[in-house]
Amino acid sequence: LKEDPTLPPAVRIRLNNKAVELGDGKDKKGQRVKVYGRIHELRVQKTTTFITLKDGYGYLSCLLPAGDLTRNYDALTFAIETALVVYGEMRAVPEGASAPDNRELHVDYFKVLGRAPSDLDAITNRVSMLQDPWDAQMLDNRHLVLRGENASAVMKLREFVELAFIDTYREMEFRKVSPPAMVQTQVEGGSTLFKYDYYGEEAYLTQSSQLYLETVMQSLGNVYCIEKSFRAEKSLTRRHLSEYTHVEAELDFIDFNDLLDHIEEIISRVVDKVLADETMKAYIERLNPNFQRPTRPFLRMRYSEAIDWLNAQDPPILNEEGNPHVFGDDIAEAAERKMTDIINRPILLTHFPVEIKAFYMKKDPEDPRVTESVDVLMPGVGEIVGGSMRMDDYDELIEAYKKNGIPHEPYYWYTDQRKYGSSPHGGYGLGLERFLAWLANQHTVRTCSLYPRFMGRCKP
Ligand code: 4AD
Repeated sequence: LKEDPTLPPAVRIRLNNKAVELGDGKDKKGQRVKVYGRIHELRVQKTTTFITLKDGYGYLSCLLPAGDLTRNYDALTFAIETALVVYGEMRAVPEGASAPDNRELHVDYFKVLGRAPSDLDAITNRVSMLQDPWDAQMLDNRHLVLRGENASAVMKLREFVELAFIDTYREMEFRKVSPPAMVQTQVEGGSTLFKYDYYGEEAYLTQSSQLYLETVMQSLGNVYCIEKSFRAEKSLTRRHLSEYTHVEAELDFIDFNDLLDHIEEIISRVVDKVLADETMKAYIERLNPNFQRPTRPFLRMRYSEAIDWLNAQDPPILNEEGNPHVFGDDIAEAAERKMTDIINRPILLTHFPVEIKAFYMKKDPEDPRVTESVDVLMPGVGEIVGGSMRMDDYDELIEAYKKNGIPHEPYYWYTDQRKYGSSPHGGYGLGLERFLAWLANQHTVRTCSLYPRFMGRCKP
């Protein structure tokens, strides 16, 4: 195959470039371009071979007229994922037809750069369409599944959401920091700690950067981080990973209401940014056609009201032991999801009992049985945020370590904050994968992670 030297020189473009002059197939010539990509879809017909090309930036419909272009070894061995460069004239799609960005490339020359065996169709398209995140074959082939349209759309959305958080925090004048992943303190209970040997000492992979954030707001102001958190979760659920991306923030000199207002504000602003972007809006429409921007204010409900609500359903929503809920019960995943799905809007669930919450949470001054704590619950997923006001009294914190059987020595740097100018403060952590599962209507958080890690899986 040879390029016709009489044709105009081709301009290299990426497929997000929409500013290409389109021909009409008659008098008006379109721009001649050159695009690097891979075959996403392939249809061979008598008169034409149709390729949908993808380059990571977009999709392009390409037509190769039957003839020299198609009667050669390279064209005959085209397969899904074949890497190639195509040259040709860009034209508007004829009336009645449809194609990405309403354009199509009339190929006059191509070169294959990387061949592919013709066995991928099942993996990249069919399996990712099925979206069965429990399927071992799909998980083993995550590196190929990610080439599919849905899986990659979720990842593109994920990037945008992460950047939208960063933008929003900047607008709110929060400072980004990067706390360590290798630590010697627990945050959310010993049962989910990943332990490892650190030069002969016991250390853990961090469960949350919260304690570190609490040590820097004194000099940096309100702070946040987007880091990995690790949990040795010993059960397989739709919403638990062993390694997840944790968006965490800490706000100084606030009260509990300020914290609730802030959480509602940041979630709403991030959603607004996503929907204001045409490309992202299109992904949401594709992945989650029934998505509705949450209406504000979010419903605020106390834990004790939730217990009453669960018991008032007909039939009542029972606890894990199969009994009606009583004050002090953990509202387990199943009950929580039922409640969120029935109420069907974001809920700020507040004031959980002291016994079922972490050691550092501040008690409600009006009712010491409960903490100034909040979970944000979203339809379809359940809890996506956990936050609280922090115990800021030195003696109370020392008492809390004792009560929870936590040796206080390793926490000296955390305790010190209550010694040197303590302040009313609070913060929260949001699971990025859970936020995405809600936004993109994913059945589990697994498809919201590039390479999900959970019990029994640490590959690819
Ligand atoms: O409720 P959690 O455990 O709260 C904390 O870690 C606090 N120290 C955060 C803070 O105040 N800075 O976790 C917070 C959020 C959950 O609401 C959930 O979205 C996510 O982190 N999360 C998980 N996501 C995926 N897999 C897991 N195993 C998760 N565990 C928690």
